[in-house]
Amino acid sequence: MTSPITGRTVVAGVAGRPVAHSLSPLIHNAWLAGAGIDGVYVAFAPAEDRFPAFVDACRGGAIRGLNVTIPFKEAALAAADVVSPRAETAGAANLIVFESDGRILADNTDGLGLLGALAAQAPGFDPAAGPAVVLGAGGAAKGAVAALLGAGAPEVWIVNRTVAKAQAIADAVGRGVIALPLDRAAEAFAGAGVVINATSAGLGGEPSLDTPLAATPETAVVMDMVYKPLVTPFLAEAQKLGRRTVDGLEMLIRQAVPSFEAFYGAPPPEAVDVRTLALKALGL
Ligand code: ATR
Repeated sequence: MTSPITGRTVVAGVAGRPVAHSLSPLIHNAWLAGAGIDGVYVAFAPAEDRFPAFVDACRGGAIRGLNVTIPFKEAALAAADVVSPRAETAGAANLIVFESDGRILADNTDGLGLLGALAAQAPGFDPAAGPAVVLGAGGAAKGAVAALLGAGAPEVWIVNRTVAKAQAIADAVGRGVIALPLDRAAEAFAGAGVVINATSAGLGGEPSLDTPLAATPETAVVMDMVYKPLVTPFLAEAQKLGRRTVDGLEMLIRQAVPSFEAFYGAPPPEAVDVRTLALKALGL
């Protein structure tokens, strides 16, 4: 935010807990400044049990909208009056918009972020050309599975420490989705076109999952949704094996693009290099 707040300033933001580490304010405010839009993007950390009350109080457009992150994505979906098909499929919302008539619209742009990141950092990769492997069975994994199937993946393998959670997603989605325990990851890796880490392992520099990435075909693309550190041990291992890799920061930026449009009514200015700004904020 470089221009003064005025009586017309459009307010949007991100709600999460914790949220102070979020790079979304940096990204959106840099775009706002670059586009010369009278808007601001701030972070909110409502108490966990107060999220529904917070969202309800915003009805009618007191603020324009919110991105929603951990742990509120499911609550955001539940609070909405109108849910987009992709948010419905993902079972979570990362974007809510407050209409002036009081309604709350929920959407999910994480899938676009995931596919956009793959297209940007693994050009030529076609999700429809082969099986995909998703590590993890939480909300992030569910969104990834939905995005990959939507992009035409012929088969999605969900590999998780707690196989029952992977099986529950497979049962809910139906055909073409196979659940496996983590200790059988190599079976899924063997035919993978892409392997995506959607577990929280590796967050904040903790050790990543110890998975047999060497079992993937040489052509496999390896992606991590974690962006702190940017090169997780999981991605470092993939790079060592010569695999093409895709990082979580690219996904974060790509999911922010449709969010910005929903809040401020214009696409973000291409001339603003938010990736470089974000890398600087990450100390890179
Ligand atoms: P999110 O909504 O971000 O997906 P989540 O619902 O807490 O977060 O899911 C986290 C995922 O990371 C789970 O699949 C979890 O495995 P379990 O289902 O077995 O709990 C996985 N995960 C987290 N830490 C892990 C670790 N150290 N090793 C293996 N899996 C891990």
